[in-house]
Amino acid sequence: MSNGKILLVGGAGYIGTHVAIEFEKRGFDVGVFDNFSTGLRSNIRPKTTLIEGDMRNEADVDKALAMGWDGVVHLAAWKAAGESMIYPDKYWKNNIAGSLTLMDGCVSHNIKAFLLSSSAGVYGEPQKLPLTEDHPLNPVNYYGYTKVAIEENLKWYHLLKGLPYASLRYFNAAGYDPNGEMTGLEQDPQNLIPIVMEVATGKRKELQVFGGDYPTQDGTCIRDYIHVSDLARAHVLAVEHTLQNAGSLIVNLGSEVGDSVLDVVDSARKWSGKEIPAKIVDRRPGDPAELYASSAYAKKVLGWEAEVSDMDTIIKSTWDVYKQTI
Ligand code: WQD
Repeated sequence: MSNGKILLVGGAGYIGTHVAIEFEKRGFDVGVFDNFSTGLRSNIRPKTTLIEGDMRNEADVDKALAMGWDGVVHLAAWKAAGESMIYPDKYWKNNIAGSLTLMDGCVSHNIKAFLLSSSAGVYGEPQKLPLTEDHPLNPVNYYGYTKVAIEENLKWYHLLKGLPYASLRYFNAAGYDPNGEMTGLEQDPQNLIPIVMEVATGKRKELQVFGGDYPTQDGTCIRDYIHVSDLARAHVLAVEHTLQNAGSLIVNLGSEVGDSVLDVVDSARKWSGKEIPAKIVDRRPGDPAELYASSAYAKKVLGWEAEVSDMDTIIKSTWDVYKQTI
């Protein structure tokens, strides 16, 4: 028997595919609505209902939602902080305008749980660590701002239209399904770990480390890397919570551990046995020095904790996929 029907918007991407695996495990029927701008057809799982279309297009949204879903998980956003500082127009058109079109559709189709892939990027430079959900929102890159804008609109849509929602503020999603069920690689990745992997496989010559003079122990930025399978599990819990409570929820999803760029490189050298040349270059605009989460609220409200987010599991599970491309 099905536990419910969940539509993953942007579900052919790296995070969406891992989310599909977790919903399937818990007995949900899964649909994917994707325009394949970055998602891969090979990521679509055999049992998944595929609806091809674009969330910026009202007719496409209507077609996808008319199939009847209990919950919608919105993972369809551009997500490169650095790029967003150069092409803000690309970011608002998809991330802000597209989200509002999708939210209108969800109101019309009476969706009972709307989940947003939000981001630690909403906080900006931390005033206090670890980051808790009540920390002021001062994004330092445009990507982070787009997530604040969507969250603000969700608050209004909850108030004005009764759309029940949960906003999940991801820290740095990384790793691959430890059971090897997901092997799709991101094309032209801009996040640290896939870039490090492409250096390890020889696809790229060297890693550029953005800044070596931050006020951290080794001078490189510190981030909270959270295994994507841990993240994905939290989506199932958040949908169940939202379906039961019909309210609103904003929650951090992080491992609570900070690792520097050089920690990541060291671990990748250990697991791959490759040299991984790395050169320190200028800082990237819009990069806070140090970010890590408190996930106390996620534990309290969802009973969720990171289980496989240690750096060894993250890097080993990623290398297991990338080494097949050599
Ligand atoms: C990580 C660290 C870079 C590439 C963004 C979002 C965040 C999250 C993940 C969703 C930084 C450094 C990177 C490179 C480098 N969620 N780096 N060389 O910017 O921390 O977070 O993506 O999308 O909300 O803001 O992630 O992977 O780009 O960078 O030195 O070639 O690696 O400076 O310190 P970021 P990232």
